[in-house]
Amino acid sequence: MSDAPTTTHRAHGAPEERPSYPMRRGCPYHPPTEYTQLDEQGPLSQVRLYDGRTAWLVTRHHEAREMFADAALFSSDHDNPAFPILAEREKNFPEFTQELFGLDGERHRSRRRMLLPRFTAKQVERMRPMIQEVADELITELLRHEPPVDLIAVLGRPLPSRVICRLLGISYEEHELFERHAQGIMQAPDLQQAVLAGRELLDYLVQVVEAKQDHLADDMLSTLITERLHTGELTGTEVSKLMVALLIGGQETTTSMIGLGALTLLEHPDQLALLRDDPALLPGAVEELMRFLSIADLTTLRVATDDVTVAGQTIRKGDGVILSTAAANRDGTVFEDPDTFDIRRSTQGHLAFGHGPHRCLGENLARAELEIVFGTLFRRIPTLELAVPLEEVSMKVGMTLEGLHTLPVTW
Ligand code: HEM
Repeated sequence: MSDAPTTTHRAHGAPEERPSYPMRRGCPYHPPTEYTQLDEQGPLSQVRLYDGRTAWLVTRHHEAREMFADAALFSSDHDNPAFPILAEREKNFPEFTQELFGLDGERHRSRRRMLLPRFTAKQVERMRPMIQEVADELITELLRHEPPVDLIAVLGRPLPSRVICRLLGISYEEHELFERHAQGIMQAPDLQQAVLAGRELLDYLVQVVEAKQDHLADDMLSTLITERLHTGELTGTEVSKLMVALLIGGQETTTSMIGLGALTLLEHPDQLALLRDDPALLPGAVEELMRFLSIADLTTLRVATDDVTVAGQTIRKGDGVILSTAAANRDGTVFEDPDTFDIRRSTQGHLAFGHGPHRCLGENLARAELEIVFGTLFRRIPTLELAVPLEEVSMKVGMTLEGLHTLPVTW
C-alpha cells in the first residue's frame, strides 16, 4: 500500500507553515510518514490544528512518557478553553465524558477509585470464561455465513459490546443503540451529529440507571448505585456519564483492535504461523499488536498549566500538547527495528494504553478480550484470509480512533 505523500516541514515559522494535524496513515498499520520527518527535527514539533490553533506534537518515547506522568503540568481538563481538540465533533465531548477522561487531580482520582476494583487483573481473570463463551458463540455464528464476511460486523463490534453489557450489568437488547451512539460520538462528521449521539446515549443511560434500582445484582452499575448514588456522592447523571466513558472507552477501541489486529496478523503470515505453532506466544502477540498499531494515537491530548522547557523547547502555559503514542511506540532508541512486526520482541514500556494517572482503566480487559478473540479465531478458522487486496480495505480517516470500516474475510 502506498504511503502518504512526503513533504519536509520546519518546526517553527509562521503558524500557517506548520504541518496540519492529524496526518493521514498511508497504510492502516503504520503511523503517518510525516511523524518520522518531524521527529528528525527533535522530540517536539509544532503542528496546526483544524481550528487554526497550534499545538506541540511529541514524537519521542522518553519525553512523551515524562509528560504523561506529569499531570499537574500537562492537564486533561477538557473544560479549559485552551484544551486542544482535533475536530469540530470533539468540542462537546466534555458534556458526555468529562467525568473521567476530562478531569484532573483529586476529583479524577476519586472517580477512578470507584471503577478500579472491577478492572483489576484478578477480576478480569474471572471474566475470561464469559468472554470465551461470547467469542465461541460469535465465531460459530460467523461460520454459518457464506464467505466473504465482514469480520468487524460479525465479531469486532458485537464482542466488546456484549462484554461491556455483562460487566456493567445492562441489557444487551439495546446494544445497537449504544454501539451506534458510541460510534457516533467518535466518528460523527460534524459537531451537531456528535452532540445528538452523545445526548441520546446519556438520556438512555439515565433511564437505565433509574430502572436498574429495582433490579440490583452483582455488577458494576449496581455497585455504583448502592455505594455512590444512594449515598448521595454521585447524581444519576454523573453515574451515567461514567458509563458513557466506559462505553466509548471500551467499545470502539476494542473493535478497532480486533479489525486492525486480524489484518496485521493476516498480512504477516510468518508471525501468524509462529502463533499457531505456539499459543503461549499469544500474550506477547497482543502486546506487540498494541504497540505496533497504537490505535488511540489521536486521543492523548493535554494542555500546559505553566511555562516549561522540554527538550530545549519552551512550552507556554495554555499550549496544547499531543502525546503521540504511535510515534513514541516506534522510537528506535527504545524498540529495536521498530517498524517490524515481531510477536517475540520485548514490548516493555510501550505507551499504547497511555501512562500515568489516566492510563487505560480497561487494559486488563482489553488484553483478555484480544487474547481470546485471536486465539479462538485462528484456531477455529485456520484457513482465514483477506477477501480483498490490502489496498481495498477501507480505513477510517479523520476519526478519533485509527481503525477499519470493514474487513472482508474468507476461508
Ligand atoms: C482495546 C484497546 C484500548 C486502547 C488502545 C486504549 C487506550 C487508552 C488510552 C491511550 C488511554 C489514556 C488516555 C489519556 O491518557 O488521555 C485510555 C484511557 C481509558 N480507557 Fe482505554 N484503551 C483500550 C481499551 C479499553 C477498554 C476495554 C476499556 C473499558 C471497558 C477502556 C476504558 C478506558 C477508560 C475508562 C479510560 C480513562 C481513564 C482515566 O482517564 O483515568 N479502555 N485508554
